[in-house]
Amino acid sequence: MDRRKFICAAGTLAVGLAGMGAASLAGAATPGEGAPGLAGKTLVAALRVRKSERAYADAPLDEAQLLELLWAAFGVNRSDGRRTAPSALNRQEIAIYAARKDGLFLYDAHNGALTRKLKADLRAKTGVQGYVGTAPVNLIYVADMDRVAGGTPEARLVTAGLDTGFISQNVYLYCAAAGLATVARTGIEIPALSKAMGLAANQRVILAQCVGHPKA
Ligand SMILES: Cc1cc2nc3c(=O)[nH]c(=O)nc-3n(C[C@H](O)[C@H](O)[C@H](O)COP(=O)(O)O)c2cc1C
Repeated sequence: MDRRKFICAAGTLAVGLAGMGAASLAGAATPGEGAPGLAGKTLVAALRVRKSERAYADAPLDEAQLLELLWAAFGVNRSDGRRTAPSALNRQEIAIYAARKDGLFLYDAHNGALTRKLKADLRAKTGVQGYVGTAPVNLIYVADMDRVAGGTPEARLVTAGLDTGFISQNVYLYCAAAGLATVARTGIEIPALSKAMGLAANQRVILAQCVGHPKA
């Protein structure tokens, strides 16, 4: 793709994101066009400022904005149920949990909603570094290892990591476009977190990612 076509494609993506309404997210798998979006920058402008940040303001993340971010991360963007991030053999094996002060939630991509799984505040347990518990939201990417593509356990783990990487980068770009702070993290006590979350044997924590407003 030449530079002119790339810029054009990037502009189209930004318009698509900007046209995705917060109001349309409640109960809608595919956000509608024409409603105000919450992430204003073009893709190229977002790429210019994409970064990891580890200092978060106390302010909570608005629910509509979190749903918009999750749609950007791994929402349904086509009528056949395919998603904003690719997955090997379209297995869609990555679940996104959101740890907040008011509990642990699971993202339901097909209904554009969050379902509460636990009432406990698990934020500090999603990582080994001190700042982790200060972020209003900690996303946890969990692979269904029975569903992921690949022949050997090692191949399946690599694939789960790759599929998670696409989702995490969508979150990075959404945050850059919306002026939010984020950092992806593998520094996790996986057995302790899995136990606290009540995960099944086939569910493997792959990555966590803080999201919030940057500390001024
Ligand atoms: C797979 C992966 C794991 C990471 N794990 C951690 C982590 O455990 N703790 C942390 O503070 N940052 C973590 N990071 C963030 C990196 O340190 C950061 O991306 C890197 O320093 C480059 O900075 P930048 O993202 O601002 O370009 C991780 C990033 C990736 C991609």
